[in-house]
Amino acid sequence: MKTELSRTLGIEHAIFGFTPFPAVAAALTRAGGFGVLGAVRYTAPDDLARDLDWMQEHTDGLPYGLDVVMPAKKVEAAPGGQTLTEADVEAMIPEEHRAFVRATLAKHGVPELPEGEASGWRITGWMEQVARGQLDVAFDYPIKLLANALGSPPPDIVARAHDHGVLVAALAGSARHARHHAEAGIDIVVAQGYEAGGHTGEIASMVLTPEVVDAVSPLPVLAAGGIGSGEQIAAGLALGAQGVWLGSIWLTTTEAELHSRALTAKLLAAGSGDTVRSRALTGKPARQLRTEWTDAWDDPAGPGPLPMPLQGLLVAEAVSRIQRHEVEPLLGTPVGQIVGRMNSERSVQQVVDELTRGFEKAVDRINRIAGRSES
Ligand SMILES: Cc1cc2nc3c(=O)[nH]c(=O)nc-3n(C[C@H](O)[C@H](O)[C@H](O)COP(=O)(O)O)c2cc1C
Repeated sequence: MKTELSRTLGIEHAIFGFTPFPAVAAALTRAGGFGVLGAVRYTAPDDLARDLDWMQEHTDGLPYGLDVVMPAKKVEAAPGGQTLTEADVEAMIPEEHRAFVRATLAKHGVPELPEGEASGWRITGWMEQVARGQLDVAFDYPIKLLANALGSPPPDIVARAHDHGVLVAALAGSARHARHHAEAGIDIVVAQGYEAGGHTGEIASMVLTPEVVDAVSPLPVLAAGGIGSGEQIAAGLALGAQGVWLGSIWLTTTEAELHSRALTAKLLAAGSGDTVRSRALTGKPARQLRTEWTDAWDDPAGPGPLPMPLQGLLVAEAVSRIQRHEVEPLLGTPVGQIVGRMNSERSVQQVVDELTRGFEKAVDRINRIAGRSES
């Protein structure tokens, strides 16, 4: 599965994978794809450095990338333009919302974290100062791609990446966003459709991909959202993409470190209709498993989610408690509609093998339909 972009990056298959797990990213790179490690959960630069050291040792000199979350609009800016600290942002959370979290946890009997155990689910990586700290670490490593969710990275970051010979990718949920990325000097646009896990827009991949391809031509576009088979890869390439970008499919691989058998079981059992695009987790619409937790936040009788980054800070400890104690009705994760096809645990290599086999079959079928092959 070679395209111009895969040749530029020196990879065997134009399959890019976003994942929060170093073991998955490294395995995908070793399998001939391109692993992209999500940095948003690394609040301590030393932790990111440790995992990038590990990536270096486990990727056989093959290319990989890093994904940060720098929202286009600084989310922690006060009206005067002054940058707020995490504590300032915490202080903005209304008591009504804190009480709602306490009541929802109490309703489901969610125990406290064990004495001395810190909340592990603390995502502040979308605060610009945290993301900049991650990049200070990342540019010391031979990453080949820097991806950004939620907007174009600031011009100084794009320039710094290019100075390091790093290509810059950015996710786009509309042709307008994609054009903005092109104007900002981004090298690759990830057209991410409504079906995708995580923060997503409202346009489905089938409509979005060709719109973005047209909008930013000749920049390369990766199709994302709802891709979990070789046939879907063939569809993405047929729509003009130079590769595909997958996130959900890796969550049920044997290398993924979900740390919860109950969550893996929920993902394996879920159908394509079991996700919801909700602001419950971060304050911005993100597709995730539908749970009683998302239902509570989406209930018009409740206070509703706060904007980013307040909601993420508000629910961080609660999410840790739910995960730690595997409280089944509330247990969830960002995941896309492709979860309906994630029905067995496989290694990353097995997933890549199936994707490439399926792609070849789909291409053969289309060739037969087009009358280009006798077989
Ligand atoms: C668990 C999970 C976490 C995600 N977190 C991020 C993130 O931090 N940054 C980002 O750019 N995209 C993130 N995404 C979106 C992926 O990069 C990707 O665009 C998306 O998963 C593609 O659609 P799919 O889920 O249908 O494969 C996340 C997706 C999932 C499933």
